[in-house]
Amino acid sequence: MAERKLYPSLYRLRASHQLPASFYVVGAGRTALTDDEFRKRVETAVLSSEKNADPTQLSLFLSSFYYRSLRYDDPTDYKNLSDALDPLDRTHGTQGNRAFFLSVPPSLYAKVIAEIGRAGLAREQVDGGGWSRVIIEKPFGRDLTTALHLSREIRKTFNEDQIYRVDHYLGKETVQNILVLRFANILFEPLWNRNFIDHIQITVAEDIGIGHRAGYYEEAGCLRDMFQNHLLQLLCVTAMEPPASFHANRVRDEASKVLRAARPIASNRADSLCVRGQYRGYLQEPGVASESRTETFVAMKVLIDNWRWQGVPFYLRSGKRLPSRRTEVIVRFKHVPHSLFQPLQPTDLTPNTLVLRIQPEENLSLSFETKHPGPKLCMSSVEMDFDYTQSFGRPPEAYERLFLDAMAGDQTLFIRSDWINLAWSWLTPVLNHWTEGHPLPYDAGSWGPDAADDLLSRDGRSWTNGG
Ligand code: BG6
Repeated sequence: MAERKLYPSLYRLRASHQLPASFYVVGAGRTALTDDEFRKRVETAVLSSEKNADPTQLSLFLSSFYYRSLRYDDPTDYKNLSDALDPLDRTHGTQGNRAFFLSVPPSLYAKVIAEIGRAGLAREQVDGGGWSRVIIEKPFGRDLTTALHLSREIRKTFNEDQIYRVDHYLGKETVQNILVLRFANILFEPLWNRNFIDHIQITVAEDIGIGHRAGYYEEAGCLRDMFQNHLLQLLCVTAMEPPASFHANRVRDEASKVLRAARPIASNRADSLCVRGQYRGYLQEPGVASESRTETFVAMKVLIDNWRWQGVPFYLRSGKRLPSRRTEVIVRFKHVPHSLFQPLQPTDLTPNTLVLRIQPEENLSLSFETKHPGPKLCMSSVEMDFDYTQSFGRPPEAYERLFLDAMAGDQTLFIRSDWINLAWSWLTPVLNHWTEGHPLPYDAGSWGPDAADDLLSRDGRSWTNGG
């Protein structure tokens, strides 16, 4: 993770002059490395994603990287690390401000954090300077019990306002734009409710399989890997009430309220509301058990029991080896109540649709009916588009924004522990139900098992798969 995301993102921040001048990184791990050897690794990681990195910028950037070897369970090593940080703080003028990014297997989170605490590294100075923060990647537990346990362990060392739990989807510009679109315009919010919206589809599709991640994926499966975090976050930004301000806790309060209002899925309803699939060929992937029941696809119908969304289904789906990589939120508005264009009926007119494309295309489009030129009363649907890259250039990587926010102390785009607990407890009946039975097979390159289509066709609807 550090090599794939952290170093390249930090470099891009440096190259775009967004990193503070007072900044340094100490790599710490079991391998014995000199500073120079570590810098070489960082350089390779940066160059693998930034082929045209400016050599002068890069060498300046690398000069602020250091390395100390550290055995994760040895208190002396943490003490040595702590002793090494003090002079570096002075050299680089960082005033004792420290962020710990845990690029270690999740099973080590609690141990490493406890040792950080024991070495006095989690202590913040009350006199203004010297904050200490920890940045943690998912998975945060594998169910409610393990998540609660991990939280309890971490809280022995860090307070909630020092903990930055990453969901990289929140760092994506296009995801943040959902909030801006909704709450910085007068146009959408009055329509954003059960009176005008028929249903919402959220798709996070990937064309890749699990690659070499069987060790992790076999334990996780799609529900834990994608739903417990990314899909439910997309649901929350799409469905939340307007926060009173863009303050971290106000925004996160509203995200949590969405999960509180999500209608519980009782185990005996799981089969009618959720579909799990496994792509054909999964069992032959390296490292996958020959009888594996791990799901690589999930589709779900979610209902939100509040005033705004009563009766509006949210259909969520995600999977590996689908036809294309595509993340999008589709807001399908209702039909007009009456057609004055007889003999056309209201249902003959295509309802307005707002498509928020998160990736790989980063754009949004709004479709509406127009008069087709000619003497007869013909109509066509047309689309009004906004494209990120055309308007602003390529948006920055999610991690750039997240690392910058963690340094700036802004937790808005990080997950609060109550949200994690709500997400796990909402999913628990489904997780329990799926300890039995088997996922439905689907062909690689298809949109998942037929049952995913049935989920919508039962309601007289269908997934939007095209374009
Ligand atoms: C990760 C999952 O959180 O997100 C992966 O563990 C998945 O399985 C990835 O491939 C998708 O992220 P993105 O940004 O490529 O959509």
